[in-house]
Amino acid sequence: MTKWKPLDPKTRCIRKCKHSDYDSVCELSKSIWEGQDYLPLVFHEWVDDNGLFLCIEDTKNNCIIATDKYTILPDRAGLLEGLRVHKEYRGQSLSWHIGKAAFEKALQDKQDGTIHRIVNCTHITNKASIHMSTSIGFTLQQKYVVVETSKKETPVQFTAQKWDPTFEEFLSMPYFKHTNGYIAQHFLVQKVTPDLFETLQKSAHFFILNGSPGFYDHSHGWYNVALDPTPKSILDWLHFANEQPQVTDCYSFVHPDPSTLKELQNQNASTWMEFEPDLLYYVYESDIAPTVLTNN
Ligand SMILES: CC(C)(COP(=O)(O)OP(=O)(O)OC[C@H]1O[C@@H](n2cnc3c(N)ncnc32)[C@H](O)[C@@H]1OP(=O)(O)O)[C@@H](O)C(=O)NCCC(=O)NCCS
Repeated sequence: MTKWKPLDPKTRCIRKCKHSDYDSVCELSKSIWEGQDYLPLVFHEWVDDNGLFLCIEDTKNNCIIATDKYTILPDRAGLLEGLRVHKEYRGQSLSWHIGKAAFEKALQDKQDGTIHRIVNCTHITNKASIHMSTSIGFTLQQKYVVVETSKKETPVQFTAQKWDPTFEEFLSMPYFKHTNGYIAQHFLVQKVTPDLFETLQKSAHFFILNGSPGFYDHSHGWYNVALDPTPKSILDWLHFANEQPQVTDCYSFVHPDPSTLKELQNQNASTWMEFEPDLLYYVYESDIAPTVLTNN
Protein backbone atom coordinates (compact mmCIF):
# COMPACT_ATOMS: atom_id res chain seq x y z
CA MET A 1 0.00 0.00 0.00
CA THR A 2 1.50 3.32 -1.01
CA LYS A 3 1.21 6.36 1.25
CA TRP A 4 -2.12 8.04 0.53
CA LYS A 5 -2.25 11.52 -0.79
CA PRO A 6 -4.05 13.56 1.90
CA LEU A 7 -7.54 14.90 1.23
CA ASP A 8 -7.61 18.67 1.04
CA PRO A 9 -10.35 19.66 3.54
CA LYS A 10 -10.87 22.96 1.68
CA THR A 11 -12.06 21.16 -1.49
CA ARG A 12 -12.93 17.60 -0.45
CA CYS A 13 -15.61 16.44 1.96
CA ILE A 14 -16.53 12.84 2.87
CA ARG A 15 -20.18 12.60 3.87
CA LYS A 16 -23.35 10.48 3.54
CA CYS A 17 -25.05 10.50 0.14
CA LYS A 18 -28.32 12.42 -0.07
CA HIS A 19 -31.18 11.99 -2.53
CA SER A 20 -30.26 15.37 -4.00
CA ASP A 21 -26.84 13.96 -5.07
CA TYR A 22 -28.55 11.80 -7.69
CA ASP A 23 -27.74 13.84 -10.79
CA SER A 24 -24.12 14.25 -9.81
CA VAL A 25 -23.75 10.52 -9.11
CA CYS A 26 -25.31 9.75 -12.52
CA GLU A 27 -22.67 11.99 -14.07
CA LEU A 28 -19.93 10.07 -12.21
CA SER A 29 -21.46 6.75 -13.32
CA LYS A 30 -21.49 7.65 -17.01
CA SER A 31 -17.85 6.74 -17.45
CA ILE A 32 -18.03 3.49 -15.46
CA TRP A 33 -18.25 0.14 -17.29
CA GLU A 34 -19.10 1.78 -20.64
CA GLY A 35 -22.21 3.40 -19.17
CA GLN A 36 -23.55 0.05 -17.83
CA ASP A 37 -23.09 0.96 -14.16
CA TYR A 38 -26.11 -0.03 -12.03
CA LEU A 39 -25.47 2.66 -9.42
CA PRO A 40 -28.11 5.10 -10.76
CA LEU A 41 -30.69 2.29 -10.57
CA VAL A 42 -30.08 1.56 -6.89
CA PHE A 43 -29.10 5.08 -5.83
CA HIS A 44 -32.28 6.13 -3.96
CA GLU A 45 -32.68 2.67 -2.41
CA TRP A 46 -29.10 2.88 -1.13
CA VAL A 47 -29.62 6.34 0.37
CA ASP A 48 -32.55 4.93 2.41
CA ASP A 49 -30.91 1.59 3.10
CA ASN A 50 -29.28 0.31 6.29
CA GLY A 51 -25.49 0.43 6.45
CA LEU A 52 -23.76 3.51 5.11
CA PHE A 53 -23.72 5.11 1.65
CA LEU A 54 -20.84 7.55 1.43
CA CYS A 55 -19.56 9.99 -1.12
CA ILE A 56 -16.70 12.44 -1.54
CA GLU A 57 -17.82 15.84 -2.70
CA ASP A 58 -15.59 18.24 -4.60
CA THR A 59 -16.86 21.26 -2.68
CA LYS A 60 -15.17 23.71 -5.04
CA ASN A 61 -16.95 22.36 -8.12
CA ASN A 62 -20.05 21.10 -6.30
CA CYS A 63 -19.93 17.57 -7.62
CA ILE A 64 -19.66 14.03 -6.30
CA ILE A 65 -16.35 12.47 -7.24
CA ALA A 66 -16.39 9.15 -5.36
CA THR A 67 -18.86 6.76 -3.71
CA ASP A 68 -18.71 3.68 -1.49
CA LYS A 69 -21.42 1.61 0.17
CA TYR A 70 -21.48 -0.59 3.24
CA THR A 71 -24.52 -2.89 3.31
CA ILE A 72 -25.70 -5.31 5.97
CA LEU A 73 -26.79 -8.50 4.17
CA PRO A 74 -29.44 -10.95 5.47
CA ASP A 75 -26.63 -13.36 6.47
CA ARG A 76 -25.32 -10.55 8.72
CA ALA A 77 -22.26 -10.05 6.61
CA GLY A 78 -21.20 -6.46 6.06
CA LEU A 79 -20.71 -6.04 2.32
CA LEU A 80 -18.40 -3.36 0.93
CA GLU A 81 -19.66 -2.43 -2.53
CA GLY A 82 -20.32 0.48 -4.85
CA LEU A 83 -16.78 1.88 -4.85
CA ARG A 84 -16.53 4.39 -7.67
CA VAL A 85 -14.12 7.21 -8.43
CA HIS A 86 -14.93 9.75 -11.13
CA LYS A 87 -12.71 9.18 -14.16
CA GLU A 88 -11.25 12.69 -13.96
CA TYR A 89 -10.26 12.24 -10.31
CA ARG A 90 -8.55 8.84 -10.32
CA GLY A 91 -5.05 8.21 -8.99
CA GLN A 92 -5.52 10.59 -6.03
CA SER A 93 -6.12 7.86 -3.40
CA LEU A 94 -9.80 8.81 -3.19
CA SER A 95 -10.81 5.15 -3.11
CA TRP A 96 -8.55 4.58 -0.09
CA HIS A 97 -10.05 7.54 1.79
CA ILE A 98 -13.68 6.66 1.16
CA GLY A 99 -13.00 2.92 1.47
CA LYS A 100 -11.41 3.48 4.89
CA ALA A 101 -14.47 5.35 6.14
CA ALA A 102 -16.84 2.56 5.04
CA PHE A 103 -14.49 -0.15 6.34
CA GLU A 104 -14.23 1.50 9.77
CA LYS A 105 -18.02 1.47 10.13
CA ALA A 106 -18.01 -2.24 9.18
CA LEU A 107 -15.26 -2.96 11.73
CA GLN A 108 -17.22 -1.17 14.42
CA ASP A 109 -20.35 -3.22 13.56
CA LYS A 110 -18.30 -6.43 13.61
CA GLN A 111 -16.92 -5.53 17.02
CA ASP A 112 -20.34 -4.87 18.56
CA GLY A 113 -21.83 -8.01 16.95
CA THR A 114 -24.15 -6.26 14.46
CA ILE A 115 -22.46 -8.25 11.67
CA HIS A 116 -20.54 -11.55 11.69
CA ARG A 117 -18.04 -10.81 8.95
CA ILE A 118 -16.95 -8.21 6.41
CA VAL A 119 -17.07 -9.30 2.76
CA ASN A 120 -16.47 -8.07 -0.73
CA CYS A 121 -17.37 -9.55 -4.14
CA THR A 122 -15.39 -8.61 -7.19
CA HIS A 123 -14.58 -9.66 -10.74
CA ILE A 124 -11.15 -11.14 -11.36
CA THR A 125 -10.32 -8.38 -13.85
CA ASN A 126 -10.81 -5.71 -11.20
CA LYS A 127 -7.17 -5.52 -10.16
CA ALA A 128 -7.51 -2.31 -8.15
CA SER A 129 -10.32 -3.77 -6.06
CA ILE A 130 -8.42 -7.05 -5.46
CA HIS A 131 -5.25 -5.14 -4.57
CA MET A 132 -7.09 -2.94 -2.09
CA SER A 133 -9.01 -5.82 -0.44
CA THR A 134 -6.01 -8.08 -0.04
CA SER A 135 -3.83 -5.19 1.20
CA ILE A 136 -6.10 -4.72 4.21
CA GLY A 137 -6.53 -8.38 5.11
CA PHE A 138 -9.31 -9.84 2.97
CA THR A 139 -8.76 -13.39 1.73
CA LEU A 140 -10.38 -15.25 -1.14
CA GLN A 141 -13.02 -17.68 0.16
CA GLN A 142 -15.08 -18.74 -2.85
CA LYS A 143 -15.09 -18.35 -6.59
CA TYR A 144 -17.59 -18.93 -9.36
CA VAL A 145 -17.62 -18.88 -13.15
CA VAL A 146 -19.86 -16.39 -14.94
CA VAL A 147 -21.72 -18.40 -17.61
CA GLU A 148 -24.00 -17.11 -20.33
CA THR A 149 -25.58 -18.51 -23.48
CA SER A 150 -26.35 -17.15 -26.87
CA LYS A 151 -29.91 -17.42 -28.16
CA LYS A 152 -30.58 -20.81 -29.79
CA GLU A 153 -31.66 -20.62 -33.42
CA THR A 154 -34.05 -23.51 -32.84
CA PRO A 155 -36.13 -22.70 -29.76
CA VAL A 156 -35.44 -24.99 -26.81
CA GLN A 157 -38.40 -27.07 -25.62
CA PHE A 158 -39.21 -26.67 -21.94
CA THR A 159 -41.53 -28.34 -19.51
CA ALA A 160 -41.85 -25.79 -16.73
CA GLN A 161 -43.99 -26.17 -13.62
CA LYS A 162 -44.25 -23.47 -10.99
CA TRP A 163 -42.58 -24.50 -7.75
CA ASP A 164 -43.11 -23.24 -4.22
CA PRO A 165 -40.37 -24.80 -2.07
CA THR A 166 -40.12 -24.54 1.70
CA PHE A 167 -36.86 -23.18 3.16
CA GLU A 168 -35.83 -26.73 4.15
CA GLU A 169 -36.51 -28.07 0.64
CA PHE A 170 -34.60 -25.18 -0.88
CA LEU A 171 -31.58 -25.66 1.36
CA SER A 172 -31.49 -29.42 0.77
CA MET A 173 -30.81 -28.88 -2.95
CA PRO A 174 -27.55 -30.34 -4.37
CA TYR A 175 -26.34 -26.82 -5.29
CA PHE A 176 -25.71 -25.96 -1.63
CA LYS A 177 -23.58 -29.05 -0.98
CA HIS A 178 -20.96 -27.63 -3.35
CA THR A 179 -21.08 -24.16 -1.87
CA ASN A 180 -21.31 -24.86 1.88
CA GLY A 181 -24.76 -23.26 2.00
CA TYR A 182 -23.76 -20.11 0.10
CA ILE A 183 -25.43 -18.80 -3.03
CA ALA A 184 -24.01 -16.79 -5.92
CA GLN A 185 -26.49 -14.19 -7.14
CA HIS A 186 -25.75 -11.39 -9.61
CA PHE A 187 -22.11 -10.64 -8.66
CA LEU A 188 -23.01 -11.22 -5.02
CA VAL A 189 -22.23 -14.20 -2.81
CA GLN A 190 -23.91 -14.75 0.53
CA LYS A 191 -24.98 -17.47 2.95
CA VAL A 192 -28.57 -18.59 2.56
CA THR A 193 -30.66 -17.67 5.59
CA PRO A 194 -34.42 -17.74 6.24
CA ASP A 195 -34.45 -13.94 5.68
CA LEU A 196 -32.77 -14.22 2.30
CA PHE A 197 -35.13 -17.04 1.34
CA GLU A 198 -38.10 -14.86 2.30
CA THR A 199 -36.77 -12.10 0.04
CA LEU A 200 -36.33 -14.61 -2.79
CA GLN A 201 -39.87 -15.88 -2.32
CA LYS A 202 -41.08 -12.34 -3.08
CA SER A 203 -38.84 -11.57 -6.04
CA ALA A 204 -37.67 -14.82 -7.67
CA HIS A 205 -39.51 -17.08 -10.13
CA PHE A 206 -39.23 -20.69 -9.00
CA PHE A 207 -39.86 -23.54 -11.44
CA ILE A 208 -39.13 -27.20 -12.00
CA LEU A 209 -37.70 -27.00 -15.47
CA ASN A 210 -37.37 -30.21 -17.48
CA GLY A 211 -37.38 -31.95 -14.10
CA SER A 212 -34.71 -29.66 -12.59
CA PRO A 213 -35.56 -27.18 -9.81
CA GLY A 214 -34.23 -23.63 -9.87
CA PHE A 215 -35.17 -20.00 -10.17
CA TYR A 216 -34.42 -16.78 -11.97
CA ASP A 217 -34.31 -13.42 -10.25
CA HIS A 218 -33.16 -9.82 -10.51
CA SER A 219 -30.87 -7.99 -8.10
CA HIS A 220 -28.69 -5.31 -9.75
CA GLY A 221 -29.07 -7.59 -12.82
CA TRP A 222 -30.67 -10.85 -13.96
CA TYR A 223 -29.26 -14.17 -12.78
CA ASN A 224 -30.54 -17.72 -12.49
CA VAL A 225 -29.65 -20.70 -10.34
CA ALA A 226 -30.03 -24.35 -11.33
CA LEU A 227 -30.41 -25.96 -7.93
CA ASP A 228 -29.39 -29.40 -9.20
CA PRO A 229 -26.48 -28.01 -11.23
CA THR A 230 -25.75 -30.56 -13.93
CA PRO A 231 -24.37 -29.11 -17.20
CA LYS A 232 -27.74 -29.82 -18.87
CA SER A 233 -29.80 -28.12 -16.15
CA ILE A 234 -27.45 -25.10 -16.08
CA LEU A 235 -27.90 -24.64 -19.82
CA ASP A 236 -31.65 -25.33 -19.76
CA TRP A 237 -32.06 -22.72 -17.02
CA LEU A 238 -29.99 -20.14 -18.90
CA HIS A 239 -32.00 -20.59 -22.10
CA PHE A 240 -35.31 -20.63 -20.25
CA ALA A 241 -34.58 -17.57 -18.10
CA ASN A 242 -33.34 -15.57 -21.07
CA GLU A 243 -36.60 -16.25 -22.93
CA GLN A 244 -38.79 -14.84 -20.18
CA PRO A 245 -40.49 -11.47 -20.65
CA GLN A 246 -38.36 -8.50 -19.49
CA VAL A 247 -35.33 -10.71 -18.83
CA THR A 248 -32.12 -9.63 -20.53
CA ASP A 249 -28.53 -10.80 -20.09
CA CYS A 250 -29.38 -13.40 -17.49
CA TYR A 251 -26.21 -15.01 -16.13
CA SER A 252 -25.50 -18.11 -14.14
CA PHE A 253 -22.70 -18.03 -11.56
CA VAL A 254 -21.49 -21.61 -11.55
CA HIS A 255 -19.45 -23.37 -8.87
CA PRO A 256 -16.18 -24.36 -10.59
CA ASP A 257 -16.55 -28.13 -10.57
CA PRO A 258 -14.04 -29.24 -13.26
CA SER A 259 -16.23 -31.90 -14.88
CA THR A 260 -19.23 -29.54 -15.03
CA LEU A 261 -17.07 -26.83 -16.63
CA LYS A 262 -15.62 -29.26 -19.16
CA GLU A 263 -19.07 -30.41 -20.22
CA LEU A 264 -20.34 -26.81 -20.41
CA GLN A 265 -17.41 -26.03 -22.68
CA ASN A 266 -18.26 -29.05 -24.88
CA GLN A 267 -21.83 -27.76 -25.06
CA ASN A 268 -20.64 -24.32 -26.29
CA ALA A 269 -21.63 -22.35 -23.22
CA SER A 270 -19.97 -18.91 -23.09
CA THR A 271 -17.88 -17.57 -20.26
CA TRP A 272 -16.05 -14.29 -19.81
CA MET A 273 -12.67 -15.77 -18.86
CA GLU A 274 -12.19 -19.05 -20.77
CA PHE A 275 -13.95 -21.13 -18.11
CA GLU A 276 -11.75 -19.77 -15.34
CA PRO A 277 -13.49 -18.71 -12.11
CA ASP A 278 -14.05 -14.97 -12.24
CA LEU A 279 -16.55 -13.96 -9.57
CA LEU A 280 -14.48 -13.77 -6.39
CA TYR A 281 -15.80 -13.67 -2.81
CA TYR A 282 -13.40 -12.16 -0.28
CA VAL A 283 -13.80 -12.20 3.50
CA TYR A 284 -11.93 -10.06 6.03
CA GLU A 285 -10.10 -12.10 8.69
CA SER A 286 -12.22 -15.03 7.71
CA ASP A 287 -13.83 -17.29 10.28
CA ILE A 288 -15.38 -19.58 7.67
CA ALA A 289 -13.92 -22.60 5.93
CA PRO A 290 -12.82 -21.70 2.40
CA THR A 291 -14.34 -23.69 -0.48
CA VAL A 292 -11.87 -22.15 -2.85
CA LEU A 293 -9.13 -24.73 -2.34
CA THR A 294 -11.29 -27.66 -3.33
CA ASN A 295 -13.50 -27.80 -6.34
CA ASN A 296 -16.09 -30.17 -4.95
C1 LIG B 1 -11.38 1.06 -8.79
C2 LIG B 1 -11.40 2.58 -8.65
C3 LIG B 1 -12.44 2.94 -7.60
C4 LIG B 1 -10.02 3.05 -8.20
O1 LIG B 1 -9.96 4.45 -8.28
P1 LIG B 1 -8.74 5.33 -7.68
O2 LIG B 1 -8.92 5.57 -6.26
O3 LIG B 1 -8.55 6.54 -8.50
O4 LIG B 1 -7.56 4.36 -7.89
P2 LIG B 1 -6.05 4.56 -7.55
O5 LIG B 1 -5.35 4.80 -8.83
O6 LIG B 1 -5.84 5.54 -6.43
O7 LIG B 1 -5.72 3.11 -7.05
C5 LIG B 1 -6.15 2.57 -5.81
C6 LIG B 1 -5.20 1.44 -5.49
O8 LIG B 1 -5.39 0.38 -6.44
C7 LIG B 1 -4.14 0.10 -7.11
N1 LIG B 1 -4.38 -0.24 -8.49
C8 LIG B 1 -4.99 0.52 -9.43
N2 LIG B 1 -5.02 -0.16 -10.58
C9 LIG B 1 -4.41 -1.36 -10.36
C10 LIG B 1 -4.10 -2.49 -11.18
N3 LIG B 1 -4.45 -2.54 -12.46
N4 LIG B 1 -3.47 -3.54 -10.60
C11 LIG B 1 -3.10 -3.52 -9.29
N5 LIG B 1 -3.37 -2.46 -8.48
C12 LIG B 1 -4.01 -1.39 -9.03
C13 LIG B 1 -3.34 1.38 -6.99
O9 LIG B 1 -1.96 1.11 -7.12
C14 LIG B 1 -3.73 1.85 -5.60
O10 LIG B 1 -3.08 1.10 -4.61
P3 LIG B 1 -1.77 1.68 -3.83
O11 LIG B 1 -2.21 2.98 -3.23
O12 LIG B 1 -1.47 0.61 -2.82
O13 LIG B 1 -0.72 1.83 -4.88
C15 LIG B 1 -11.76 3.28 -10.00
O14 LIG B 1 -10.88 2.84 -10.98
C16 LIG B 1 -13.17 3.03 -10.46
O15 LIG B 1 -14.09 3.76 -10.10
N6 LIG B 1 -13.36 1.98 -11.28
C17 LIG B 1 -14.67 1.61 -11.80
C18 LIG B 1 -15.57 0.98 -10.74
C19 LIG B 1 -14.93 -0.18 -10.03
O16 LIG B 1 -14.30 -1.02 -10.65
N7 LIG B 1 -15.10 -0.24 -8.68
C20 LIG B 1 -14.48 -1.24 -7.83
C21 LIG B 1 -15.27 -2.46 -7.64
S1 LIG B 1 -16.94 -2.25 -7.22
